[in-house]
Amino acid sequence: MRKIQISASILSADMANLADVIDGLEQAGTDMLHFDVMDGHFVPNITFGLPVLEALDHVTGMFMDVHLMIEEPLCYAERFVRAGADLVTFHLESKSDPVKTIEAIHQAGAQAGIVIKPDTPWEEVIPYLDQVEVILVMTVEPGFGGQSFLWHMVKKVEGLSAYKNEYGLNYRIQVDGGINADTAPHVIRAGADLLVIGSYLFRQANPRAAMDAIREQAVKLSAVD
Ligand code: DX5
Ligand code: ZN
Repeated sequence: MRKIQISASILSADMANLADVIDGLEQAGTDMLHFDVMDGHFVPNITFGLPVLEALDHVTGMFMDVHLMIEEPLCYAERFVRAGADLVTFHLESKSDPVKTIEAIHQAGAQAGIVIKPDTPWEEVIPYLDQVEVILVMTVEPGFGGQSFLWHMVKKVEGLSAYKNEYGLNYRIQVDGGINADTAPHVIRAGADLLVIGSYLFRQANPRAAMDAIREQAVKLSAVD
């Protein structure tokens, strides 16, 4: 049975209390932390970077899932791993060479993943699928939390899932943007195993119950598979 994991995006969290927020997420059973790095060039927004990741890595033992929305991920990949990233995902649409960037992340000791924006066909990652641990399908345009799920991205997840089964590959399929109790079952059924959840989680009075409900749906859906 496929194991579904939830990566909490701290983009929508209270930035003045990040250590407490992360402690709460860990207590609530979150599988990993999703850390959105934006440079104001690749996307029209700026968030946080190396010093914040390093500081947070010192206050939690959680798995750090770092999503680089920056133009030159190859220039920074190794430093993000040294700052605490356990998984680094970077955009195929960035300026860096994908193979060199994957190698830099692996050599630094972390898992590597490629991210594709909504307009990028999934077939463009085929040359790299045997080299990465994760493929991240953006289910909104990258840049901001709280956007609505793009339903036509479900087909992309289905395509990547079918390809993985056909060729016996091992990458995990991550989705990011607009994931909530209504959209999660659709991406899980399509083959996603790693769900990034941001604003939905922070709206919940009981995040543990919300995550458990999504995981329970996943168990039911996997039983049907
Ligand atoms: C958007 C970010 C997402 C974002 C998701 O560019 O990559 O990780 O935080 O937030 P929600 O779950 O609110 O769509
Ligand atoms: Zn993200």
